[in-house]
Amino acid sequence: MRANLIAGLDIGTANTCVVIGEVANDLRRPGLTILGVGQARSGGLRGDLVTNIEEITESVRASMKEAELMAGVSVDRVYAGIGGDHVRASRSMGVVAIAEDEIAQDDIDRVHVVARAVALPPDREMIHAIPQEYRVDHQRGIKDPVGMQAVRLEAEVFLVTCQITASANICKAVNRAGYRVQELVLEPLAGARAVLTEDEKEVGVAMIEIGAATTDVAAYYEGKVQHVSILPFGGATLTADLVRGLSVPFSEAHKVKEHFGVALAHLVDPRETVPLPGPVPGQSRRVARELIAHVIEQRLDEVFGIVQGELQGAGLDHLGAGIVLTGGGAALPGIVDLAQQVFASPVRLGVPSEGLSGLADSVHRPRFAVAAGLALWGADKFTETGRGASTVTSGVFTKLGTWLKEFF
Ligand SMILES: Nc1ncnc2c1ncn2[C@@H]1O[C@H](COP(=O)(O)OP(=O)(O)OP(=O)(O)O)[C@@H](O)[C@H]1O
Ligand SMILES: [Mg+2]
Repeated sequence: MRANLIAGLDIGTANTCVVIGEVANDLRRPGLTILGVGQARSGGLRGDLVTNIEEITESVRASMKEAELMAGVSVDRVYAGIGGDHVRASRSMGVVAIAEDEIAQDDIDRVHVVARAVALPPDREMIHAIPQEYRVDHQRGIKDPVGMQAVRLEAEVFLVTCQITASANICKAVNRAGYRVQELVLEPLAGARAVLTEDEKEVGVAMIEIGAATTDVAAYYEGKVQHVSILPFGGATLTADLVRGLSVPFSEAHKVKEHFGVALAHLVDPRETVPLPGPVPGQSRRVARELIAHVIEQRLDEVFGIVQGELQGAGLDHLGAGIVLTGGGAALPGIVDLAQQVFASPVRLGVPSEGLSGLADSVHRPRFAVAAGLALWGADKFTETGRGASTVTSGVFTKLGTWLKEFF
């Protein structure tokens, strides 16, 4: 086993996706060489809460095996995604006094301990405590305060907590499939890692990841994560709307959505019709494609409206880099136009590509954003700590690495 292998595992409601990569040895150009990808249908998640461990386990096993076969390697640990509307994000501040003249690494460690010391209910656990910025004697916006003269140091951290049962079930399914969870990463943060650039995060950007059961939002400004949310709507909601709107079974509605769905009704020729099964078996009928688009547009317009309301509520209504759409649902034609209409700002599709080489083409699809982002997250951690996805470690434990291990 090679030490620098990384595996990202995205257990979704519709699809489980795996990306296996190798961290580039050249530390001046950190990146990930994609070696293998795997995909399997999943069916044991509802809104990202595990409802059937066996089904999840099977989809993890199948997608991991496929990726390992393609890569010609085996891994034993994975960076696994976690999502669902049980996730909560908040910001916390910590303050410490500086005994010596200069701020030392120990002071940074101390201020983090203070900032993340929030009381959690017994059914919740912390999955991230991400350092955002420091304040040195009230001077804000400091990224690296080590060595600065001060009497007071403050740290702002972004805390993410989740239901203990949700994370335990993911770990259980992964263990049963024969792997271990190296770290749980919040899905929207992983997706953002894959499809947003540092420049976009600086000037302000919101990623909207449309999955099957949920739509995830991660918004950044001044290089910091400012807002994260997980809404209980997604591609499956669109399918359910089509079931009602067209009076067809779920499987037919799903096919119609993926083959003929459009996110903006006025993009469709009003004379165009598509075949649908009729009320009597063996018979078919034709339905205006515009009607299908209308049903989809209405729901997406509502979901984008909710996201816009959230962004406004968080004071993020003027994001310089606008909106980046990703996830399986972003494959709908016309979705960029609809989002432009709702948000009145620049909108683009987000596909993983930056920092990726090797078989990067295989993940060049919006639905791979989270899995690729998890692998990239792992690559970042590897660069910091020297720990990969196999039991062989290169033993390069930096102080920061040990610190991160304690915190995450
Ligand atoms: N071409 C397409 N047109 C419309 N919808 C599509 C298309 N391709 C995929 N989808 C929809 O995208 C959804 C699957 O996306 P994705 O794989 O990102 O979800 P997931 O990760 O399994 O779900 P979640 O993240 O909500 O748990 C499904 O609802 C699917 O119907
Ligand atoms: Mg997903």
